[in-house]
Amino acid sequence: MSEFRNLIDPSDFSVDELYGLIADAQAIISSPDDFKHTADGKILASLFYEPSTRTKFSFDAAMLRLGGQVIGFSDPTTSSTAKGETIADSAKTVSQYADIIVVRHPKEGTAKLMSKYADCPVINAGDGGHQHPTQTLTDLLTIMNCKGRLDNLTVGVCGDLKFGRTIHSLVTCLSRFENIKFVFISPEELSMPGYVKETIAKRNIEFTETSDLESSIPKLDILYMSRVQRERFVSEEEYLRLKDVFILTADKMKLAKPDMIVMHPLPRVNEIATEVDSDPRAKYFEQVRYGMFIRMALIKKLLNL
Ligand code: NCD
Repeated sequence: MSEFRNLIDPSDFSVDELYGLIADAQAIISSPDDFKHTADGKILASLFYEPSTRTKFSFDAAMLRLGGQVIGFSDPTTSSTAKGETIADSAKTVSQYADIIVVRHPKEGTAKLMSKYADCPVINAGDGGHQHPTQTLTDLLTIMNCKGRLDNLTVGVCGDLKFGRTIHSLVTCLSRFENIKFVFISPEELSMPGYVKETIAKRNIEFTETSDLESSIPKLDILYMSRVQRERFVSEEEYLRLKDVFILTADKMKLAKPDMIVMHPLPRVNEIATEVDSDPRAKYFEQVRYGMFIRMALIKKLLNL
């Protein structure tokens, strides 16, 4: 067992700790200058074995805004992985240089494996189609700031529920809050994995599964859209058949409650028409901004600063 606190899965934090992180992020948002030397002298290693825009940049920006520094790569062919180094050896090595590691990898379980060998805290920035806990922290802060609560919500998640790691993390995490109901909207081929459904069923969470976006919209407080995860398909033909099954348009938004919010972890491909961006209920770019502040709070927590 690692002697460090890591974030591999959202359940690594208790509900109280999640509220604590949100409160910390809100304090940072209201007076960012108070935190600009919080991580002075600390180094974050950012190891991206898979493409990223938001997650990588928001971690880098978060560490720099806390006064720390960042090393790392976003192209694994430039690291010793290309020579055949194991994840265990990379973890042991990098943690000799850095105080905290952020890792994204196409293979499920890699962040957990790294945390077993690293001499510093490890944060999972996405492991294959499994989990993406820091996107979930971003989502929680967005929901709190836009809806004022994390409980008593009907949440629709739409798109690629099979491979969408942001969805797996968000759904299992939100199921720990009071009176959450889910509507899972996907084609049958991309439905929610059994392990996620089992976890929430154990918590007596109500959920329905449908392939009808339009009839689901009116009952939702939150609509969480997601991209069909092309890189995780075995067959390109199957991807092409499923990629555009759901497209949220301004017309469909007319069916939604006046205070429903639309979220998306981004990147967007076709699943939200750009005409929706000007709807005040579209929160996905605001969500991007919250990602940096919650990651500042997370780094601060894991480094005990
Ligand atoms: C997500 C991811 O990488 O899982 N992006 C992100 O981190 N915001 C979603 C996606 O790629 O579809």
